[in-house]
Amino acid sequence: MNNFSFYNPVRIHFGAGQIKKIADEIPAGAKVLITYGGGSVFNNGVMQQVEAVLAGRDVLRFGGIEPNPAYETLMKAVLLAREQGVDYLLAVGGGSVLDGTKFIAAAVPFEGEPWDILAHKARVESALPIGTVLTLPATGSESNAAAVVSRRATGDKLSFFSGLIFPRFAVLDPETTYSLPPRQIGNGVVDAFVHVVEQYLTFPCDAKIQDRFAEGILLTLIEEGPKAFATPNDYAVRANLMWAATMALQGVVGAGVPQDWSTHALGHEITAMYGLDHAQTLAIVLPAMLHVRRASKREKLLQYAERVWNLSSGDEEARIDAAIEKTRAFFEAMQVKTSFSGYGIAEPDFNALLAKLQEHSGGAGLGERRDVTLEVSRQVFELAR
Ligand code: NZQ
Ligand code: ZN
Repeated sequence: MNNFSFYNPVRIHFGAGQIKKIADEIPAGAKVLITYGGGSVFNNGVMQQVEAVLAGRDVLRFGGIEPNPAYETLMKAVLLAREQGVDYLLAVGGGSVLDGTKFIAAAVPFEGEPWDILAHKARVESALPIGTVLTLPATGSESNAAAVVSRRATGDKLSFFSGLIFPRFAVLDPETTYSLPPRQIGNGVVDAFVHVVEQYLTFPCDAKIQDRFAEGILLTLIEEGPKAFATPNDYAVRANLMWAATMALQGVVGAGVPQDWSTHALGHEITAMYGLDHAQTLAIVLPAMLHVRRASKREKLLQYAERVWNLSSGDEEARIDAAIEKTRAFFEAMQVKTSFSGYGIAEPDFNALLAKLQEHSGGAGLGERRDVTLEVSRQVFELAR
């Protein structure tokens, strides 16, 4: 196991009815900006619950944060927060609202052009405090220090990390997820699954807790994911999916182990160019990525085949093929298509995708061995046609 320092300060309030806890979390005198997306939080009553808890407080609202949150939109919130002297942000929604709010939190006190936080990794010296009420289990944003923001004008989708943007707290009420449409149920399960894979399916480093924990999350997603379609109002199913998604990307799975993240890097370029949902891009890329890199991931692929898919006998190459095929079939069963053509993209512009990838990676190899060159990425894209 590699050395690591683990820190996760996010207080989690998990379970039905926990939205009331925000009353204790947000300081009484705070000037709060509630951020949200396209309106799902009004349709499912989550915003009404939040506002009832904060009745009598000094509260403003900023809506319209879109999926793959746009810098252009977020800057409007930054200006509003500066004008109004907002000193606390409460994000209510999915990963896009949470990520967008993290950017707002860092951008409000930032001196200079806030885009530099993303494009030039400008240091974040301070940030407004953030609370979150999560309505879509997927990204892990509610319990991590990452945010991904897109700039529509230039076709860039970039991330930044700062310990200052960890939420102060996260409310995870599984009942808020009953209203998710099937597409977002599938997206959430696939995203959480791939988060685990990026931190687990690399090469062995004798990290037994991390491995078993990763496998436990994958097995839970495989077991519970399809049930969310079949019995959408099953609390236990939603609770298990919600906790699985949070645990997938809050630090423990990835502590002290090699990490990949190349599937995400390629996926972000697909979203930036074609507008596909984040998880849709991962479902396109991951099976092809595993196939192309089967030699360097061989030992972990065999472990994954055995412990996650029960494939423990017969020819090793055939086992690896079967594990990759089962992964693909699971994504399809979660109603997330696994090829460009599945989304009507008959002739993907691989040259343009690779040019953007090169721009964003600075030409460095990706993956746990830094051996995912542009040529390897091209093979992955080709195989995912
Ligand atoms: O906008 P509203 O009306 O709220 O509707 C949303 C949106 O249309 C809807 N939705 C959310 N909760 C709902 C609901 N509809 C009904 N009932 C509910 N309870 O779902 C749609 C998608 O929401 P979005 O927030 O975009 O989805 P997700 O949570 O998958 O977030 C995706 C974003 O997170 C980034 C992705 O790149 C993408 O930009 N990621 C963030 C990460 C992080 N911070 O660590 C890691 C991830 O790998 C990922 O990159
Ligand atoms: Zn993801």
